[in-house]
Amino acid sequence: MRAESLAGRLFLTSKRWFLIFMYLHKHQRAINVTKRSPKYVQRLQLLSFLPKVRFCAEVGVRLGAFSQMMLETLRPERLWLVDPCRDYPGNSYMEPSQDTLDRRWMRLLSLFKKEQSVTLLRERSALAARQFRPGVLDFVYIDANHYYEYALLDLFVWCRVVKAGGYIAGDDYIETEKTARKGWAVKDAVNHFMDISGLPMVFLNDEPDGSWVLEKVHDVCI
Ligand SMILES: C[S@@+](CC[C@H](N)C(=O)[O-])C[C@H]1O[C@@H](n2cnc3c(N)ncnc32)[C@H](O)[C@@H]1O
Repeated sequence: MRAESLAGRLFLTSKRWFLIFMYLHKHQRAINVTKRSPKYVQRLQLLSFLPKVRFCAEVGVRLGAFSQMMLETLRPERLWLVDPCRDYPGNSYMEPSQDTLDRRWMRLLSLFKKEQSVTLLRERSALAARQFRPGVLDFVYIDANHYYEYALLDLFVWCRVVKAGGYIAGDDYIETEKTARKGWAVKDAVNHFMDISGLPMVFLNDEPDGSWVLEKVHDVCI
C-alpha cells in the first residue's frame, strides 16, 4: 500500500465506497442490519480501509453475512470461506444441534453456488490453513474460535498463508463484560501475537465490533 500513489489510493478508496454503496443498495436486508447494528458499519469501514485484494479468506463464516459483504465490496478473484459447521470440544460458541449446523452448511452452499470465485471449506481453521501455499492470500479475516489458545493459533497459521505486505484482520479486540463472561480473549491473543511477530496494527475500531487489522510488513519466521 505504501508504494501506491496518492491518486491511486484515492481512486481505490472511492471505488470501494461505491461498491459498499451498491452492496447496501442491493441488500435491503443489509441496510436494515447496518441500521440496527453499528457492528456491521464498523466492518464496512474495515473493508473500505483495505487496498486491492485479489485472494482472501474468511475463517468462521456462520450464515455468510460478512462473506457476502467481502465478496461484493472487495470483488476478489477468489474468496475462501472456512467453517466446520460442527461442534467440537474446546469450541468457544454454544452451537445448535448438528442438524441445524448441517442445514446452515447447505444454506451456505446454496447462497454461494453461483459465485465462481467462492470456495467453501468445511474444515476447522488450523486444518484448512494447511491446504494453502504460504503467501497466497492478500487478506484473511479471522472470526472463528475466540478462546485465547485458538485465536493465537489462528494468527500463526493464517499469517503463514498471507503474503508479505498483506493483511490479517478480525473482530472482538475488546474487553467487555460479555467477553469476560464467555472467556473470549481475542485481544490478549492479538497483543501477544504482535509482541512475538513484530507486526503492527494498522486499523482499529472500538466497541462494539473491535475490528482490527494487522499488516504483514515483513515475513514472520517462527
Ligand atoms: C461469530 S461466527 C462468524 C460470523 C461471521 N464471520 C460473520 O461476521 O457473519 C463464528 C463461526 O466460527 C465457526 N468456528 C468455530 N470454531 C471454528 C474453527 N476452529 N475453525 C473455523 N471456524 C470455526 C463457527 O462455526 C461459527 O460459524
